[in-house]
Order: sequence, then C-alpha cells, then structure tokens
Amino acid sequence: MPPQDGATADFVVVANRLPVDSVTHPDGSHEWVPSPGGLVAALSPVLAQHHGCWVGWPGTTDDSLSLEPFRTDSGILLHPVSLSAADYAEFYEGFSNATLWPLYHDLIVQPIYQRSWWSAYRQVNLRFAEEVAKVASPHATVWVQDYQLQLLPGILRQLRPDLRIGFFLHIPFPAADLFRQLPWREEIVRGLLGADVIGFHLPSYANNFLTLSRQISGAAGSHTGQPDELTVYGKAQIRKPDAAIVAPDGRRVQVAAFPISIDLSSLGHPTAEDISAIRRKLGNPDTIMLGVDRLDYTKGILQRLQAFEQLLEHETLDPDQTVLVQIATPSRERIKQYQQERARVEEAVGRINGRFGKLGQPVVHYLHRSLPKAELAACYAAADIMLVTAFKDGMNLVAKEFAAMHPDGSGALVLSEFAGAAEELSHAHLCNPHDLESVKRAIFNAVYSLSHQPEDAGRRMQALYQQVHTHDVNLWANSFLSFLTDHSQGGMS
Ligand code: ADP
Ligand code: G6P
Repeated sequence: MPPQDGATADFVVVANRLPVDSVTHPDGSHEWVPSPGGLVAALSPVLAQHHGCWVGWPGTTDDSLSLEPFRTDSGILLHPVSLSAADYAEFYEGFSNATLWPLYHDLIVQPIYQRSWWSAYRQVNLRFAEEVAKVASPHATVWVQDYQLQLLPGILRQLRPDLRIGFFLHIPFPAADLFRQLPWREEIVRGLLGADVIGFHLPSYANNFLTLSRQISGAAGSHTGQPDELTVYGKAQIRKPDAAIVAPDGRRVQVAAFPISIDLSSLGHPTAEDISAIRRKLGNPDTIMLGVDRLDYTKGILQRLQAFEQLLEHETLDPDQTVLVQIATPSRERIKQYQQERARVEEAVGRINGRFGKLGQPVVHYLHRSLPKAELAACYAAADIMLVTAFKDGMNLVAKEFAAMHPDGSGALVLSEFAGAAEELSHAHLCNPHDLESVKRAIFNAVYSLSHQPEDAGRRMQALYQQVHTHDVNLWANSFLSFLTDHSQGGMS
C-alpha cells in the first residue's frame, strides 16, 4: 500500500540497508528478498511492532528502480535511499567495509585509508540525513543504526534539532589505540555525539568509546561518570549509574550497553518430521555439526574447517558418523579479502571431502546461499553441535538462534570467546579461534559431553535457552528506546 504523499512517521529507523533487497532476475522479473545480516534480523520485528518507518538502501544500484516509499506486508513503511555505482564502490565497499569494518574488528585484515572514500562516506551520510529529516514528524524519535551512518546523528541534529536521536552500533567498537589510526577520528566521534544516547552491545565496547572520546581533543567536551560505572540495560540487574559525555554544544550524551538479541517467534517451529527429513538427507549420522554465517573473514569459517579436518585426521571424529553442514551467505563479493576468504573456504571444503568423503557421502555439506528462515530453523533444530568460531563479532545472533531452537536442552554450542554473545552464553563450550588446539578441544568437549555426559550437556543447553528466552530482541529494543526517552533533551516526552 503506497503511503500518501509527504507521509511522515513518529518513529524512524535508519540503517544502510532496508530489510529487503531489490533483485532483478536475468529474465527481467523483479522481486524483493530479505536482506542479509543480524541488524535486519533483529530490527524487522521491532519495526513491525512499532509501525515505524525504515529509511535505507534497497540493495541495488539499478537507477531504474522506483524509489517511492511503500509498505511491507508486516506494516513497515519503507523509505528507499538510492546509492549510485560510485557510492556503492566508495561509501559501501570502500569506507564502510574496507576501512571501518576491518578497523572495528581489530585489524583482522589491514584497513585501507583513502580520502576519496571518506568524502563519499560524508556525502552519503548527508543524503541519508536529508531523507530522514523529510520523513520524521516533529519531535519524532529517530534510531540510527550501525557503522555506515556514524556521521548521521551530528548532521541530523543540525537539520532537525527537535528530534530525539539514538544511535546503536551493531559491531564491536575497538580499543582507542586502534581507532586512533583513523585519519577522520575526530569527525566520527563528533558525528556520534549528535545522538542523545549511543548504545553498544557490551560495556567493553562502550568503555573503548569513552576512553577514545577522552583522548581526542576537540571532538568532545567533558565527561561525567567513570567507564566502570556503565549500566548494562536489558539484563536482569542494572548495575551502576551511567556514563555520559558532555558534547561540544553542551548536551549530555549518554553512553550505555544494550546486548542485542533475537525474536524467538520469527524463526518458526520445525516439526519432528522436518528435523528427521534433514537427518535422513545427511545419511542419519550420529553427529551433525553446523556453521551458519555470512561468508566474512571475521567469522573464522576456514579455521573451523581446519579444526574439523584435524579431528578427522587424528581419528577423534569418525567420518562415517559425523557431518559438518556449512551454510555461508554470499557477502560483499567484490571486495578482495572476501574473495580470498571464499576461495580458501571452498578449497578446504573440497580437500576435506576429497580426503574423508565417500561416494554419495561427503563429510562437509557446503551451501553458498541464503536459506529461507523456516529451512534455517530446521537446520538449527536438526544440528547436534553448532560451531561459532568468529575472530571478532559484535554479538553473533546465529549462536542465539541455535540456542533458541533447542528448548529441550538437546545439542551443544561451540562459541568463540571473541563473539559478543560469549558474555551472556557462558555455558557454551568456549574457544579461542586464534588457537586451533583450543577450537579442536572445544569441539571434542562438545562431542564428548553429548555422548558421555548427557546430563551436563542438557544443563548447559537449558541455561543457554533460558538466557535467550528471557533476553529477547523486544527486551533489547524496549530497553534502548525507554532509556532514550528518559535521557533525551530533544524529541517528545
Ligand atoms: P552478521 O550480522 O555479522 O551477519 P549475525 O550472526 O549477528 O552476523 O547475524 C546473521 C543473521 O543472518 C542471522 O539472523 C542469521 O539467521 C542470518 N543468516 C546467516 N546466514 C544465513 C543463511 N545462509 N541463510 C539465511 N539466513 C542467514
Ligand atoms: C552486519 C552489519 C550490518 C550489515 C550486515 C550485512 O550485521 O552490522 O550493518 O547490514 O552485516 O552486511 P551487508 O554489507 O550485506 O549490509
């Protein structure tokens, strides 16, 4: 249903991506498909509930696409913002994903600092801010999402001082010593300080930001509160008072941690038949291991495959009774490091199957595509052991989705210490993905606990399920939004 001309909204979410991507098929037909990533997975149910407006890019540089706002079946008003082919190359692939992404993920690959990319980042942030300024009602609440739009709060504050502005970062925030490499560090910090509240997943990320803003002269004013006084919202207990920064224009900007989570109901409920159908297709092995990730070098997919290979090689795992299913969503495919990662992953899959597979019986089942939610949910439910081995991950919703699909306490989770989720999901088999022995040990422990210590395994999974069940995405969104209402100087009360 198209909105009336000039429709505005009291609640606006702005993210680089809309929750749907426009796809044009080779035969010229067109469809909207769900867009990838944890940000979209978490925010879609929140927006549907608030009947808000989502401002974002429709995932294509096809300039023949109509950019008229439209409503989704779940009632979200989508307000598309176009990116040209040059914006895509410089703002999206360049500054967002070849400068900020590796910098914020602790330099797993070397960030590239390029002035023309920075200029594109500024221009695209300005364009998004102008669109939000058009669509937001007087005194509306605007919730800005993620690293692609860090200048937007500052620009929007100037365009529309009446708005209540929140910002949430979906990826880690690095230590100040790393961040200070960025030639445009002051501008980014000043951009963020346009918000009333800046939210991070973990207190450690928020602390990094507070430390940084203290160090950067001219970016920020004075501070109140100590980093160790951070509150974690959306957790059972609220710890201590908040930390705040006084921005150059005199506003108090609150900095806090809000661990994101999932919407348990949106995954669906696979039946026993769905689950046994998957197990049958995989040859009814004793143990099904599962990896589900965007194909990103931060996720440690190659290292997980190497650990699996070595466990087969040393006969710790039996190739006749074990399979690994790796579902990898295509991501950022023109960026060199993503191409390299894909080549290495696919080479390892081929090698492992060549060494340990049999005719009609591969040990690794590899899919390089996105799956519909219901199918993915059935894979989670059918899997015995989920492998999440990210080198660094803001939160990692996949780990929470797996836990959510095992309410009966079946299964086991192998989880990287460097995924934000490890803080809440401490009953997982934690591992250090930089140490292959540690990954192998965690996989072995997970297998062993399922076969030899079923009660302990059950207790662990029940604890993980309870954590996710009681800390869902609604708690995250409501915690952030009510905190924003209580702490904003602009916007409606
Ligand atoms: P990121 O945001 O870095 O991609 P997360 O683990 O936080 O990582 O979130 C990934 C989201 O994308 C999850 O909701 C997951 O279900 C979804 N997802 C990942 N891989 C696939 C896939 N192959 N098919 C469908 N959904 C996927
Ligand atoms: C992560 C980021 C999101 C991003 C998603 C998918 O979840 O935090 O901002 O949208 O990955 O990445 P893409 O580059 O495809 O938007």
